[in-house]
Amino acid sequence: MLVSAEEMLTKAKAGKYAVGQFNINNLEWTKAILLTAQELNSPVILGVSEGAGKYMCGYKTVVGMVNGMLEELNITVPVALHLDHGSYEGAKQCIEAGFSSIMFDGSHYPIEENVEKTKELVAICKEKGMSIEAEVGSIGGEEDGVVGAGECADPDECKMIADLGVTMLAAGIGNIHGKYPDNWAGLSFETLDAVQQKTGTMPLVLHGGTGIPADMIQKAISLGVSKINVNTECQLSFQEATRKYIEAGKDQEGKGFDPRKLLAPGTEAIKATVKEKMDLFGSVGKA
Ligand code: 13P
Repeated sequence: MLVSAEEMLTKAKAGKYAVGQFNINNLEWTKAILLTAQELNSPVILGVSEGAGKYMCGYKTVVGMVNGMLEELNITVPVALHLDHGSYEGAKQCIEAGFSSIMFDGSHYPIEENVEKTKELVAICKEKGMSIEAEVGSIGGEEDGVVGAGECADPDECKMIADLGVTMLAAGIGNIHGKYPDNWAGLSFETLDAVQQKTGTMPLVLHGGTGIPADMIQKAISLGVSKINVNTECQLSFQEATRKYIEAGKDQEGKGFDPRKLLAPGTEAIKATVKEKMDLFGSVGKA
């Protein structure tokens, strides 16, 4: 059964480790992530962007697929199904469809409007036992057509949003989705520390988990980050493994095109990426 992310993140914050959010795009990715979490006895959050939701035929299909896998793969570790960077409308659709967690990304609204919309969604999520993530200070880079400038969050605004009763807070600290440019200034630990001082026990979320060096990840966890999002790295490992398979001419062996064979190396590559990240985040054995 899908669970809210609240308990797993409260435990992570107290235990000084982070739970990984791995974004899903299809059946193979979902299966790879769930099997790895189970094998490593780690809690996990499956992230679904609005674009990926559309690609997978809509949120109800995603909920049906994930619930089916939890049962048929005998997954017993805590799993949350979470909308990533949701719009106000998208958040409401996911609540209806049976997600167990949502992110409402109101970072592009003026703070008053972000507060108002977040408040309304917090009330609905509380009633349904779901977790909700809010964002202050946009995350840099481009994801699914949404472009952020990578600003650092204002700690007072973070406190304002945290006080609305959200479960977790994504605060921009110079992090960027996707590949980091060579001249990237690194994470602003000063901002992270100031946000953590103002928000206390609230689990903080670090987006853009792909290109952040391991030592910065560990320092961020020590300063209150309890959820780290990873998307691009799974895409890259999937792409690389599939490319090698095709270049080796293996897709032409046997009787024509077999999607099960073609997608198998990429699926294994995602498992390896998820394992590496769970090790780094310290969530192994924490289910
Ligand atoms: P990356 O694509 O950089 O791993 O970031 C993922 C993310 O933050 C999803 O919200």
